[in-house]
Amino acid sequence: MFKKIALIAATTLSLSGGAALAAGAEGHIEDFAFSFEGPFGKYDTNQLQRGLQVYTEVCAACHGLKYVPLRTLADPGGPEIPENQVRAFAAQFDIYDPALDDYRPRTPKDHFPESGLENAPDLSLMAKSRAGFHGPYGLGINQLVKGMGGAEYIASILTGYTGNDKEEFGTVFYENTAFPGGWIAMPQPLWGDDVVYEDGHSTELEHVAEDVSAFLMWAAEPKLNQRKQAGFTAVFFLTVLTVLLYLTNKRIWAPVKARAKGKPAE
Ligand code: HEC
Repeated sequence: MFKKIALIAATTLSLSGGAALAAGAEGHIEDFAFSFEGPFGKYDTNQLQRGLQVYTEVCAACHGLKYVPLRTLADPGGPEIPENQVRAFAAQFDIYDPALDDYRPRTPKDHFPESGLENAPDLSLMAKSRAGFHGPYGLGINQLVKGMGGAEYIASILTGYTGNDKEEFGTVFYENTAFPGGWIAMPQPLWGDDVVYEDGHSTELEHVAEDVSAFLMWAAEPKLNQRKQAGFTAVFFLTVLTVLLYLTNKRIWAPVKARAKGKPAE
């Protein structure tokens, strides 16, 4: 019993401690309007393709996506790149193959490369790992109420640079209004007009940041479209089942009710 109480006390303490810390050092997260928000939201294929371009041309210089298989670029609900193009895309990146004891071009079966810069984190799951803890006291309320999640966080970081920097212990930190604590070791990666889009979409900073954030959301949560669809199918069947059960119930008890009222059954 005592063990249980001690455990509960410890959990409560650590939870409240964590929340206080998050509230104190929390950055400002902008509310962006993404196509995949809300119960009917879906990924926008063109946006994911633009985001892949930004990721490849800018972010991949430092970051990796080592948990994302390259073949998923062709999957329905994702960027939906044609398979021959996925093969060509994969072949740009070499990988060490122990079986050959040599380097070879990647195939769609391989994953995206790992981070090339030691202190740049892998971005495979970043959009999910940073999703939950915003809003008052780190309760994640904003995600529930405003649909604000990891994609918003990433887009806010990318557009949150103030232009100030400082050097501490030999590392340069850049002031950023979205990053917890206010100073980030990543130099501003996007400035607007960083890429040339084939579909003529705007390349203003905010739009480029949105596109790459949507792509990273897909990387972390590739089955979002399918998950929402399955949810709707389930709700639909449960509704039909409820109506049927209600009618069956009425039917079964009708003779009994009729008898209770002293009338003959139908
Ligand atoms: C010059 C190298 C470099 C480039 C290019 C770069 N990053 Fe970073 N990034 C970093 C480093 C270093 C960190 C770690 C920063 C820290 O922890 O203070 C980081 C951290 C991050 C984080 C994590 C923030 C957190 O909450 O910990 C995200 C998200 C991110 N980068 C996204 C991007 C995106 C998207 C791009 C492309 C538009 C990009 N980065 C381009 C070096 C880079």
